[in-house]
Order: sequence, then structure tokens, then C-alpha cells
Amino acid sequence: MRAMQIPSDHPLLLRIVDDLAANGWSQQNIFLPLDLTRALAAECRKRAAEGELAPAAVGRGPLSEVREGIRGDHIQWIEPGQADACDSYLGLMDSLREAMNRGLFLGLEDFESHFAMYPPGAFYLRHLDRFRDDDRRMVSAVVYLNDAWLPEHGGQLRMYLDESAEYDVVPVGGCLVVFLSGEVPHEVLPATRERLSLTGWFRRRGNEPF
Ligand code: OGA
Ligand code: MN
Repeated sequence: MRAMQIPSDHPLLLRIVDDLAANGWSQQNIFLPLDLTRALAAECRKRAAEGELAPAAVGRGPLSEVREGIRGDHIQWIEPGQADACDSYLGLMDSLREAMNRGLFLGLEDFESHFAMYPPGAFYLRHLDRFRDDDRRMVSAVVYLNDAWLPEHGGQLRMYLDESAEYDVVPVGGCLVVFLSGEVPHEVLPATRERLSLTGWFRRRGNEPF
């Protein structure tokens, strides 16, 4: 599977851009091809088995710390050139970045992402994907890598869209959720089985904080 790029005016990408403009978020149930979803899940499991995933920290910089009472996932940041499947994913995300820049004028310059594995029972309490001292993250994107996930397995992404509206996403393999990082509070509910995803952030240029 080679680096995968789709044109930035692909109907799927235009739909995401339209949703973001209208509502600040988008869900696409059929985003990743099945073979790519499987290859990414295998890559994530391999890294977990080799001990490369580490407990995720809360906050950034020297004050960040692991706090399982806030988030219990294990993560590893991905880099280009490590695995074909990851490069395909990064290619798709780059096409999405271009589409958002064309349609929303966000000036997104880069993308950072990590594998995340939530062991059974792990969760991530309600939060925003933006640090107090660093507002470069503009758009969050999560793709799920789970085979045959059912609602009764739990593990929903719960988004708080406004005062009265909660919306739950079931983390089914191949599904993509995108939302404005600074505007949509969300949480990850505990699941009865291991939950795999790739989470990433499109960033604009900013002053690198200390
Ligand atoms: C995160 C996050 C959501 C999910 O990693 O910041 O909110 O559904 N993930 O995994
Ligand atoms: Mn988040």
C-alpha cells in the first residue's frame, strides 16, 4: 500500500469542508478503505506488542504528567517513512488539509498524529483539544481502527455540541470524525474491549511557546 493521495476536490473531502463550515464538525462513516484500516490496526497492535506505546500525558511541556483519572490511553506519535500504512494515512490527511485550506482559509500548515490504544475500562474525561498556552491546533481528526465494534461495547466519542446537545460516535473501523479543536468539548467513554484509533491535529503556524 503506497502513499495515498486523493484530489483535494474529491466529493468526500468537500462534504467534510461543508460540514465544518456549517456545524464545526463532521462524521464520515466510510472514510478509510477497509484494507488500510486493517493494516493500520495491525501496525498499532504490533507497536503495542513491542512496547512502543506509552501512557499518554495530560498537558504539554515540562508540566505534563500521566494521570489515568483523566485519560487512560496509550499512544505513540507517528512519523513519515515508518510504515506504508501510516504513509497512506498521512497522504489522505494531507489531501484533507489542502481541501480545508481551499474551502475554509484556515492556513493549516502541518499535521501531528498518534496511535491511541485504550485498554478495556480506560477513558478520557471531557476536554478541549487546545492547550491554554498554545492555540496552534485548529482541527482535530480521529479515525477508528476497530473491527466489528458494536454500541454495547461502549467507547463512544461523546461530543458536546451545545448546551443541550450531546452526540455520540461509535468507534467503528474506517470512520472519521473531524471537529474544530478549540470549540467542541468531548470525551471518550470507557469500553468493554480494547479501542484503537489514530488521532491527529491540523495546525496553523504560531509562535512556538516555551
Ligand atoms: C484525544 C481524543 C477522541 C477519540 O485524543 O484528544 O479526544 O475518540 N480522542 O479517541
Ligand atoms: Mn480530544
